[in-house]
Amino acid sequence: RQEKFQKIYELYNAAQKLYTHILLNTTAGEQALSYLKDDRQLDEETIKKYGLGFVPSNNVLLSYAREHNIDEKVMAEAELFIDRDGELVRDRFNNRVVWPIKSDRGQVLGFSGRSLDPDNPAKYMNSPESPFFNKGKLLYNLDLAKGNIRSGQPAMIFEGFMDVISAAMAGAGGAVATMGTALTEDHVKTLAKLTDKITLVYDGDAPGQKAAKRSIPLIRSVAPQVEIGVISLADNRDPDEVRRELGLPALKQALEQSTQTPTEYLINAAKQDKNLQNQAQYLDFLKEVWPILTSATAVEQDYFLKKIAEDYGSSLEALQSEFSDYKNQHP
Ligand code: UTP
Ligand code: MN
Ligand code: MN
Ligand code: MN
Ligand code: MN
Repeated sequence: RQEKFQKIYELYNAAQKLYTHILLNTTAGEQALSYLKDDRQLDEETIKKYGLGFVPSNNVLLSYAREHNIDEKVMAEAELFIDRDGELVRDRFNNRVVWPIKSDRGQVLGFSGRSLDPDNPAKYMNSPESPFFNKGKLLYNLDLAKGNIRSGQPAMIFEGFMDVISAAMAGAGGAVATMGTALTEDHVKTLAKLTDKITLVYDGDAPGQKAAKRSIPLIRSVAPQVEIGVISLADNRDPDEVRRELGLPALKQALEQSTQTPTEYLINAAKQDKNLQNQAQYLDFLKEVWPILTSATAVEQDYFLKKIAEDYGSSLEALQSEFSDYKNQHP
């Protein structure tokens, strides 16, 4: 069993090397390479650092495995091939750019592949869940980020692989990503062992906001000692788009200088899409503020009650009284 695991690990490593070789050195990889270089603005050094690759449609890994007499069971359990009625018929990630997903020790455990076809409804495809590949446990880039987080850089959680790579280019050494899945208790525990500072950097769109609203209470309950930060990006951009559209210094600035506390972030989010000069919408806003402030510190409660009073012309006494009514009704 131990030996079989070892063989599977070797196959993952061989697959990664083969796919990177195809991307960088063969005509089959030319189109994918120009996609990464021109459209995604990655240089060759970065491509190598993260071990990106391309899987052509000629089943190069399947041929490699057969030539090297790799045990059929090892091949099947690695989940790198499509299985049709018990027969392995082709490379799973055909025609995709692939990012190797590694353990925190740098062992390749699977891949995520991006289609170059904008009409493909499955933009990203991951290795299926297996004893090796568990999305709820793995964090992309933790192998490279771990040491930096231990030595004091904040752990930063992103949505996508390209966001992590862009953030690392901007100097954020503690960048990791969940893989198309929500943050889990396991993810939080893993990071909380390394640091007491976790920053969420989700896409500036509606799903990104939803993810932040869900992750904040999760981190608070799993690791109450952790100081949470939230970075919210303007104009629906994700961090990688900030780098490519506004430039690396703009991303660097956003990552270094725009961290909000969860309370600030949530109150700002509650303001969005509301005209607070309109009485009804202002009252709706206050209804969203009370539960946010309930989870805030006394100093934050004091600060935001005063600020809301100033900004919108309510008396501090009235706000305090409504907030305590809310707390009495929701003990
Ligand atoms: P996004 O749509 O924001 O992807 O989804 P992205 O990372 O910005 O992709 P690029 O920049 O177009 O390459 C966020 C994350 O959700 C997962 C991926 O992990 C992605 O990074 N996802 C997205 C999937 O698993 N499948 C999909 O079809 C799309
Ligand atoms: Mn299978
Ligand atoms: Mn998004
Ligand atoms: Mn995105
Ligand atoms: Mn993106």
